[in-house]
Amino acid sequence: MWTITDIAALRETVAQWRRQGERIGFVPTMGNLHGGHLALVDEARRQSDRVVVSIFVNPTQFGPGEDFENYPRTWTADCEALRRHDTDVVFAPAVEAVYPDGPSLRTRVEVPELTDILCGASRPGHFTGVATVVTKLLNLVQPDLAVFGLKDYQQLLVIRRLVEDLSLPVEIVGGAIARESDGLAMSSRNAYLEPTERERAPVLYRTLRDLAARMEAGEDDFEGLLADGWERIREAGMTPDYLEIRRAADLAPAGPGDRELVIPVAAYLGRARLIDNVRVSRP
Ligand code: PAJ
Repeated sequence: MWTITDIAALRETVAQWRRQGERIGFVPTMGNLHGGHLALVDEARRQSDRVVVSIFVNPTQFGPGEDFENYPRTWTADCEALRRHDTDVVFAPAVEAVYPDGPSLRTRVEVPELTDILCGASRPGHFTGVATVVTKLLNLVQPDLAVFGLKDYQQLLVIRRLVEDLSLPVEIVGGAIARESDGLAMSSRNAYLEPTERERAPVLYRTLRDLAARMEAGEDDFEGLLADGWERIREAGMTPDYLEIRRAADLAPAGPGDRELVIPVAAYLGRARLIDNVRVSRP
């Protein structure tokens, strides 16, 4: 496994693989890798000859007062895990390499509508930072496929849309949500939970699963279902940011005729902002 920080060196390495006719898979991350990230790396491995993983804590997707400075950085452990998962290259550029004129986003990739709702409403500018850096990373690596987690469902849709709208020649693959044994979705931010908070956190996923089961059994009073969900999340000591029933294809509000749905949730628990979602196919 090679560690590359230099953009020219990355381009050269990938170009050589391409000349050999190899298929290149890419997994962008911000490091502090857990089982969720590593499952995406395994997926990329299954589908490609070469795997590039980027580790870059992207300043432009953090708002003022968010955790950019304190975001967990665990370089040595990350490299060990990636080596075990058969990664070819870890691409870890410095902030100055990605943003030579400072991270002010002179040129930006905006994906309107999809980014104004849910997490975008609570974190203004977040998805512009994500869309811009992902566009840039895809241009640097030029992979055949890139794998993103369904955990960040809205992010996955934003990326699918920008790839389609900008005609980027890459296949976007969605990877299943990896969970702890009690159902809590794996996340770097789970480390912010105090032990008693950690015990309560699985309520988020349990609530989603119960709502999904009721919808799959035919319940269609969305407001009633969501009110029950809010109550359970609050009872567990969390402060919900949003809990919604949306169309899976585009996150628009779900109507009575929609069959393929998703229930996305975000909630604050102590210092952590937790997100999760489940898909629902209605009869
Ligand atoms: P990060 O939070 O490090 O996540 C990197 C990738 O891992 C994303 O595609 C995310 O959806 C996926 N992921 C995280 N937790 C997961 C879980 N429990 N199960 C499955 N996949 C999971 O998302 C980002 O970084 C950044 O926004 C990035 C795309 C790298 C742009 O900076």
